Amino acid sequence: MAAQRLFRTLLSRSGTGPGPGPAGPRRASSSLPAPGTWSSRLSRLPHRDLYRLSVTDPDQFWGSAAADRLRWVEPFHRVRDCELRSGRISWFLGGKLNVSVNCLDVHVETHPDRVALIWERDEPGTEVKVTYRELLETTCRLANVLKSHGVQKGDRVAVYMPVSPLAVAAMLACARIGAVHTVVFAGFSSEALAGRIQDAQCKAVVTCNQGVRGGRLIDLKATVDAAVKSCPSVQHVFVSQRTENPTVMGQLDVPLEEVMSSQPPVCPPEPLDSEDLLFLLYTSGSTGKPKGIVHTQAGYLLYTSLTHQYVFDHRDGDVFGCVADVGWITGHSYVVYGPLCNGATTVLFESTPVYPDPGRYWETVQRLRISQFYGAPTALRLLLKYDDSWVKKYDRSSLRTLGSVGEPINHEAWHWFHSVVGDGRCPLVDTWWQTETGGVCIAPRPAEEGAPILPAMAMRPFFGIQPELLGEKGERLSGDDVSGALCIGQAWPGMARSIYGDHDRFVEAYFTAFPGYYCTGDGAHRSNHGFYQITGRIDDVINISGHRLGTAEIEDALDEHPAVPESAVIGFPHDIKGEVPFAFVVLKDGVSERGAVLQQLRELVSTKIAKYAVPEHFLVVRRLPKTRSGKIMRRILRKVATETTGDPGDVSTLDDPSVVKEIIDAHRRYTEQRAEKKK
Ligand code: WT7
Repeated sequence: MAAQRLFRTLLSRSGTGPGPGPAGPRRASSSLPAPGTWSSRLSRLPHRDLYRLSVTDPDQFWGSAAADRLRWVEPFHRVRDCELRSGRISWFLGGKLNVSVNCLDVHVETHPDRVALIWERDEPGTEVKVTYRELLETTCRLANVLKSHGVQKGDRVAVYMPVSPLAVAAMLACARIGAVHTVVFAGFSSEALAGRIQDAQCKAVVTCNQGVRGGRLIDLKATVDAAVKSCPSVQHVFVSQRTENPTVMGQLDVPLEEVMSSQPPVCPPEPLDSEDLLFLLYTSGSTGKPKGIVHTQAGYLLYTSLTHQYVFDHRDGDVFGCVADVGWITGHSYVVYGPLCNGATTVLFESTPVYPDPGRYWETVQRLRISQFYGAPTALRLLLKYDDSWVKKYDRSSLRTLGSVGEPINHEAWHWFHSVVGDGRCPLVDTWWQTETGGVCIAPRPAEEGAPILPAMAMRPFFGIQPELLGEKGERLSGDDVSGALCIGQAWPGMARSIYGDHDRFVEAYFTAFPGYYCTGDGAHRSNHGFYQITGRIDDVINISGHRLGTAEIEDALDEHPAVPESAVIGFPHDIKGEVPFAFVVLKDGVSERGAVLQQLRELVSTKIAKYAVPEHFLVVRRLPKTRSGKIMRRILRKVATETTGDPGDVSTLDDPSVVKEIIDAHRRYTEQRAEKKK
């Protein structure tokens, strides 16, 4: 390691000076950068120059980073072939590699006993450390189990587990043999799980008997049992024993630890094409059915590793603490792939921010000596309501960078995180990105040494990201102090490649509204200084505690009730969760048991989707506001629900404006009743 560093330093001294534009000698016959360009020269450029290079010469920037930072079985012959208009995105063409080798074997060669994972189990003080060597062996055993049960390259495997070393090993085992994992957040209901398994046609499911969270047991296996009944593609369910409680094993079930123990701890890695599928991750859009977002091998891995290092200032020896669940993209990119590709020690947080008390995060920081703490605004908003002594009593001197993700962070939470948790001495990065972007796209870091971070703002584009704001007519908004639809003008390696089984939907959802751009679905403001502030979704997607949900998905669930001919759901502000669903429901004539129906509706959403999706507010209305063509005008519902003045805004395009008065009256009665109840 030391020799390598010295070598790099020597090279950089003799290298050409930093500057924008194409750098280093080019090979005559192709646009591929010379080997070593990244390590010896580019990575030493000032950030400003590096950013400029990344957008003016992506081939040079990404080509050299990919060549030097990843281990290839076969080198790529072309850096990229991308056309945003048609949603055609390919990176590192012709290259072959294996992601699990890059996340495990390369580190085992140099430091086998370094801790790869610290599993912070629900019960404080019972953490389990897993070294790179152990993780490689576990991954290989699990890969051999999958292979010996007929799982082959290209097959899909669902992982329905809370965060744990075996969940990570299951993901990496798929990567090792070229299978495609789709992790489903273990809070989703059996029907939601079944829908994802069916869409992906999964051959196998990996799960555990129970989950443990906040001192409570969750029967995950029972949920899987119910789901696989309607999933004929599933041939095996591998069941790990998280708790000692006995599990009833059925025909499909295979005891995971048992079969792993009889498999060898080595498994030859499958060489995979850069653009072979690595994983699917289902996420919500503005229509009812969740989308299986497709990520591929090399580009995703490179992007997560680069962002992990630069956005969070990760250095050797750090303990990286991202408290997200592996069921979300944050867990994929910054619990698993980014950190492991960089040989980091990464924390797997199984518990909750308030178990056994509101000091849990900071007690964990002290005990594990966490260097980077990456969490969600919703948890911070919850914690800041408690006394600061819950934070102050623990030693947080190990912290160097704080990060926030998932939703806009409000000023109060930002300042509390920065000054109370970080004692005002750690850079706090508000990171904007999405399941589709693969990794962080806008964040205050990296930036030049000492560059300011403004509170509650994502600020600066990452390398290779060209943010653009577009107006309603699709016009590009230039200059500063403008707001518009946030789009990205150039492909980057981490971006999604497709929606599983439906490339047309991919093109329609992301590349059609503003041809030639990737359309994020968020709005943003560019400040006088050229910094970006995310203002929130501009489509029918809401964000509950940092979890994305389409209002149409909730409406579809509500509309299944025989008493509900139609419904409309909007996002309603909530001081901890950020937003909660507010449902306007129309009931059939003659329905008398309103209370009972509403309770059934709550249960319906909980079983069809998940508990967190259950609307907090229900308002029964006679009709919904619609345009002449029959489109529900959610904008008006949002105004009625949130404006204290009761002003619904422009109602001239409504088919029958009198409906608005009805709804305003119903809403007034509803708020009065709630106020009454509170007394
Ligand atoms: C949506 C993506 C990115 C991982 C977790 C969520 C919102 C995310 C921020 C932020 C403002 C944010 C956006 C985005 N969002 N981070 N720092 N500031 N909004 O991933 O479930 O794919 O949701 O979350 O609305 O589009 P996701």
